[in-house]
Amino acid sequence: MAQFTLPKNSKITQGKTWPKPEGATNVRKFKIYRWNPDDGQNPRVDTYFLDMDKCGPMILDALIKIKNEIDPTLTFRRSCREGICGSCAMNIDGINTLACIYGLDEVKGDVKIYPLPHMPVVKDLIPDLTHFYAQHASIMPWLETKTNRPAKEWKQSIEDRKKLDGLYECVMCASCSTSCPSYWWNGDRYLGPAALLHAYRWIIDSRDEATGERLDQLEDPFKLYRCHTIMNCTNTCPKGLNPAKAIAEIKKMMVERVV
Ligand code: SF4
Ligand code: FES
Repeated sequence: MAQFTLPKNSKITQGKTWPKPEGATNVRKFKIYRWNPDDGQNPRVDTYFLDMDKCGPMILDALIKIKNEIDPTLTFRRSCREGICGSCAMNIDGINTLACIYGLDEVKGDVKIYPLPHMPVVKDLIPDLTHFYAQHASIMPWLETKTNRPAKEWKQSIEDRKKLDGLYECVMCASCSTSCPSYWWNGDRYLGPAALLHAYRWIIDSRDEATGERLDQLEDPFKLYRCHTIMNCTNTCPKGLNPAKAIAEIKKMMVERVV
């Protein structure tokens, strides 16, 4: 069963400290959140040491080195290693970001790594994103058309295509939504910045023919209007996107259509 990062009535305990690499002169300390659903224990923070002269430059390089050479039980998601799949999102030194494109030199002092905050945890650094993905699916993330299908393709002008820049690049890493206090407290009903950025991506797609339906679905005190423009989402997005602006644009469209 999934566990929340900071479960009620339990505390994070000091975990195991692994030995320093012998003979190394350039050593860094890593403090990493651990939780195993199968051992009945509280979450803990384990401490590892790495020889930085034998480690790649990114946080993910360090995690892979720890898993391969020190502790094979350390569990995390990763796939592409280049900021495209979105699967390695975690909280590094207090920032939600992608481990594969976050440099070790960006962290001063000990490297502290936790799962994305306020999400159920499957194990160690792996959050349960079932609800997050269901919210994404709820905004109909596809081209919705009603007119007859064209013989070849749905065409789009260069200008209209440009409106999708800054939106289509989202890798669904969940860094933004899990940095948002409104999403922490109301994530069951507030869609959060990632799903809303995707909603806007389809609302402004010139080829889409369900704009009214899409806006109707978002006209809700929680789904959209629980955004209070705190801006954590935009500040943390590892792809440099601006979910807060996308949400503001949807709110503007809501006002303009009722005037
Ligand atoms: S908007 Fe940025 S932070 Fe949010 S899910 Fe997309 S890539 Fe991740
Ligand atoms: S491993 Fe794919 S984004 Fe980091």
